Amino acid sequence: MSEREVTLTIEGVEVTVPRGTLLVNAAKQAGVHIPVFCYHPKLDPVGMCRMCLVEIGRPRRDRETGEFIRDEQGQPVIDFGPRLETACTTPVDEGWVVRVTSPKALQGQKEIVEFLLTSHPLDCPICDKGGECPLQELTMDFGSGKSRFLYDDKMHLAKHVPLGDLIVLDRERCIQCARCTRFQEEVVDDPVIGFEQRGRALQIVTYSDPGFDSYFSGNTTDICPVGALTTVDFRFEARPWELKAAASLCPHCPVGCNTVLNTRRQPQAGGRITVQRVMPRQNESVNEIWLCDKGRFAHHYAGSPERLARPLVRGEGGLAETDWETALQRAAEGLKAAEGAVVGLASGRVSNEDLYNFRRLVEALGGRVYLDDAMGGGEVVQQVGVGAGTNLGCLGEGDAILVYASDLHEEAPIWWLRVKRAVDRGATLVVANARPTRLDKYARHILRYDYPEAVHKALALTLAVTGGEELKAYADEAVHPAAEALKGARNLVVFYGCEGLDVADSEALARALGNLLAGSGHAGRPDNGLIPVWPRANTQGAWDMGLRPPEAGLSAALEGARAVYVLAADPLGDDPALAEALQAAEFVVVQELFRTPTTEAAHVVFPAQSFIEREGTFTSGERRVQRFYPATPPWGETRPDWQILAQVGARLGLDLEARSPAIVFRQIAEAVPDYASLDYPALARIELQWPPVGGDDLYFGGTAYKNDQGVGVPLAPAAQRGEPVAIGWGEPPAAPQGDGLLLVPVAALYDHGRTVTASDILRPRLVRPRLRLHPEDAHRLGLESDASARVAWDGREATLEVEVSPAVPTGAGLVPRSGGLALWGPVVAQVARGG
Ligand code: SF4
Ligand code: SF4
Ligand code: FES
Repeated sequence: MSEREVTLTIEGVEVTVPRGTLLVNAAKQAGVHIPVFCYHPKLDPVGMCRMCLVEIGRPRRDRETGEFIRDEQGQPVIDFGPRLETACTTPVDEGWVVRVTSPKALQGQKEIVEFLLTSHPLDCPICDKGGECPLQELTMDFGSGKSRFLYDDKMHLAKHVPLGDLIVLDRERCIQCARCTRFQEEVVDDPVIGFEQRGRALQIVTYSDPGFDSYFSGNTTDICPVGALTTVDFRFEARPWELKAAASLCPHCPVGCNTVLNTRRQPQAGGRITVQRVMPRQNESVNEIWLCDKGRFAHHYAGSPERLARPLVRGEGGLAETDWETALQRAAEGLKAAEGAVVGLASGRVSNEDLYNFRRLVEALGGRVYLDDAMGGGEVVQQVGVGAGTNLGCLGEGDAILVYASDLHEEAPIWWLRVKRAVDRGATLVVANARPTRLDKYARHILRYDYPEAVHKALALTLAVTGGEELKAYADEAVHPAAEALKGARNLVVFYGCEGLDVADSEALARALGNLLAGSGHAGRPDNGLIPVWPRANTQGAWDMGLRPPEAGLSAALEGARAVYVLAADPLGDDPALAEALQAAEFVVVQELFRTPTTEAAHVVFPAQSFIEREGTFTSGERRVQRFYPATPPWGETRPDWQILAQVGARLGLDLEARSPAIVFRQIAEAVPDYASLDYPALARIELQWPPVGGDDLYFGGTAYKNDQGVGVPLAPAAQRGEPVAIGWGEPPAAPQGDGLLLVPVAALYDHGRTVTASDILRPRLVRPRLRLHPEDAHRLGLESDASARVAWDGREATLEVEVSPAVPTGAGLVPRSGGLALWGPVVAQVARGG
């Protein structure tokens, strides 16, 4: 035993734990369950419910020497106090003897359950939590067989109280444990719900408008130990024991949150098997036991009746449904006729297997593939991305985090949550952005710049951290305090995004920050390195599969193309100016979920399976390769993208894998050195996770799923493999040309992408397509809030409602990225009062 550890006995089991461990957690490590309601291992203890009552015996000590007093057999004399104590608020000490199931302890626990049930409605048969309810479980285990209280004297309270559009409260069922309010305050700092009234009338209310206004509200339904909080998505839809569970990944951002898709045959869907709810699957290195509300509620697009169900082929009357063979044959003929002048364009929305087969197909035809994304820097991440073994949940005192040109709260909410928690544990946060974001509140240093100066400022910071002749021209005194904090950090993680930057500029930013990490000894080891905040879930995988954004832009890349193959992208929707370039191609093939402006220009459209219907891998921004599994049967006649590509290839005499994604992945491991040691079984390996969830004691951690299907494998960046790192420098952007306002698209969680808009319950939360202006600019342009503005750029035009806000930098107009405007990079725009 060291000074830092203590050994005690709980229910006859001896256990050694770090000093300061709460008794409830020490018991868990000894394999002894102590029942809890208000305690949750991710929240500070409050000791509100008294469910965890136990008997604690402490060794008697000699007052002078402090030594244990021993009996005749040499055993310490143990004194049990007269009262039961709460295990969730009590840190353990050396030599304790704890009784959890003694008659006295059991009596205490029984009385607490009886007391809780006096005001509980007992509607288990119709309660959504029935079957996975801690109160139900603990009543079975610890409750008394009958109640001394009269059923008719129970409190009756409102049963369907919407706390917002997503969460519903049943007031009768609430046992006032405050897990939900503490989660909102402590973990995500959105104190938008709280208790009102006192005593038995105490009840949860929402203080925000709109109600329960938080990106993390769904998590409260997992940790609520009763059926008091339910989601509108799942409420009254199914009973937990009817559900099947398939391990999956969230496809909405580069965090790669691990999920479980609960499915059931649904009468309202004509007997189809559909996703009933999305639940977190524990991965302490990725999302712990949390999900953001987009990940939880945006799944409806997979079951949208607007999904493409059959292949389409262009005939005289336009696109018409056809059979697979006709469509495959037609695609093969069209591609062959292009005689090598083929351009492939894919997004990071699809899996590694899809992207690998895509590249092979297009290159075998003599063509080139490009990544359709607004951000660069993937090769820098391959070199100095975070080291394998990184866990943001371990960052704290002595460590530093830099977040650059990204609004993490909107772009990757679980990273935001984990950065905020690292700051709670003592980590130093530096935020660099042209405008305030929600992370500023936790930052020790804030670096402001004008949008066009983002890379210059990063170079100044790199100079201040690492020195170096080549950067002398960028010297800037203002960055020194932040630089000192980064330089002296034990570990340093840097997030970078692309707000206000185009692909080349974000690449230059990545290079500057990559050099900062490499030059300060913060690369090539766990808990250090660069994390790209990609706009899509598998953009890093796309870089790893060898796809790159076109250097001179998409229009130039399409020049001379006789055939264009588009995979999970909508270039025309994103930029209508591409219509001419696309029309110049004789033949366009698209693989998609929905009809889009690009499918409307296509000659063949293949209906693709969504990630819910198939198997594959994504590589997260932290470069963790993870698997997702099929949860529902395919929609209509859809097929997985990798297979469609192989079937097209087969008709062109190419041998691409069309049977199993596991085999495609094996080919990836052979072709891509970074993936060399990986295969599907390796990705399915599991690791012990703390706190334990998903066991018999689901009252402990809530209803998050235990990870039985794999925590994935983090890739080691080149710097960690001991390979030479050659990042180089990117050219900082020149000042924007032309008169006008710099129109900057900024990310919003609930954007207007098809994967979000198909969810009815998220629709009220979709970002409004507004132009946000600084008061000075608004005044200059003769605009005020709610006025209508006409915005014109690059031959495009839009009319937007104005919002005036001092939080917007002068000279810039902020518009939502994918907020109905489909603008991905900054442009100079003419703004005038609209009609
Ligand atoms: Fe606890 Fe649930 Fe009531 Fe919140 S709603 S206080 S989590 S029982
Ligand atoms: Fe999905 Fe990102 Fe939200 Fe996680 S943080 S649930 S990956 S959208
Ligand atoms: Fe310990 Fe509530 S008082 S769990």
